[in-house]
Amino acid sequence: MTKKTKIAVVGTGLMGIQHIKAIDKSKKASLHSLVDVNKKLILSLSRKFKVPVFENIKQISTKNKPDAVIIATPNYLHKSQAIKFLKSKIPVLLEKPISDNIQSAKQIINSSKKNNTPVLIGYHRRHNSIISKAKIKILSGKLGKIVSVNVLCWLYKHKDYYKEKWRIKKGGGPLGINLVHDIDLICYLLGPVKYVQAYTSNSIRKFNVEDTAIVNLVFRSGALCTLNISDTIVSPWSYELTAGENPTYPLTNQSAYFIGGTKSSLQFPNFKFWYNKKERSWWRKIYSKEEKIKLDNNTLTNQIDHFCDVVKRKVKPKVNGNDGLISLKIFDAITKSARSGKKIKI
Ligand SMILES: NC(=O)c1ccc[n+]([C@@H]2O[C@H](COP(=O)([O-])OP(=O)(O)OC[C@H]3O[C@@H](n4cnc5c(N)ncnc54)[C@H](O)[C@@H]3O)[C@@H](O)[C@H]2O)c1
Repeated sequence: MTKKTKIAVVGTGLMGIQHIKAIDKSKKASLHSLVDVNKKLILSLSRKFKVPVFENIKQISTKNKPDAVIIATPNYLHKSQAIKFLKSKIPVLLEKPISDNIQSAKQIINSSKKNNTPVLIGYHRRHNSIISKAKIKILSGKLGKIVSVNVLCWLYKHKDYYKEKWRIKKGGGPLGINLVHDIDLICYLLGPVKYVQAYTSNSIRKFNVEDTAIVNLVFRSGALCTLNISDTIVSPWSYELTAGENPTYPLTNQSAYFIGGTKSSLQFPNFKFWYNKKERSWWRKIYSKEEKIKLDNNTLTNQIDHFCDVVKRKVKPKVNGNDGLISLKIFDAITKSARSGKKIKI
């Protein structure tokens, strides 16, 4: 039997706990240790998972090194912590976003190159089989040339969600929390972005952060895309409620992504094709074909399994530092465009 990859988890808050559970489910990984400045929290977790705990990353990067580490701490700590591990040649799964600014994201990427040690960015939706299926469909040419794309992310967050004060400040709104995942996916599916334009509004919740936004993207391929997000709309159309990744969100069996091509169009996660049979025309009957798909609720474990293969250098990271930088640049451009009203070149 091959040896399990021993992984330390740094930051055992909301996301860190999800990673600990995913490691527990993985056949390829085992939990090495936990690090968190919150002593009470790690002590209770260490009793449950029976692993050593540390209050400071210095303690694990020197003695009893893990094979790899997951960093799930607040974004402003990503740079210093990731670089510390990379310098010790310990591969890193770094939670999204790669960092809180472009300069430090570049430093993480350089450190990974310099130390010849991989970084995987935690955009876990990429490890969902639905996404590989969508990519294959687009590449197959069945849709023709992709002309335009519509992504809906309409959801309603309960008022208790906003008891955490950071969620009503800059960076805590639905753009940084939810839409960054959609941005990563759409770039993966459609390629590089040339221009970004955005409008934001806080007219419903009236917090210091957006509750609603529309984002227009122009891809280098010529395709256009609108991403439409709000956390104040009661609706069935968002990736969260349609992909079935997380049982916390009741499944609506709808779609959130609509990809329009010159030959046909595709909606997913509930894979449906729309097409004409002979002649393409809006005067002709449009047919739809729904494909049976198996919803994937194991993306975090899939991500851990993939990370173990990355650590053993069997594969390259599916979402590398550069991918993390691209979505961060687009997120940064959205913020700038919403503020200035200008179109931003990427
Ligand atoms: N992939 C996703 O869908 C997803 C979802 C939520 C959060 N995230 C990302 O995960 C990261 C953590 O977010 P969260 O919601 O879990 O936050 P959180 O506040 O719930 O947890 C962060 C943890 O880090 C600990 N911490 C703070 N400073 C530390 C330090 N110096 N050393 C060690 N531990 C320290 C805190 O005590 C806390 O337990 C962020 O980067 C966030 O963007 C990703």
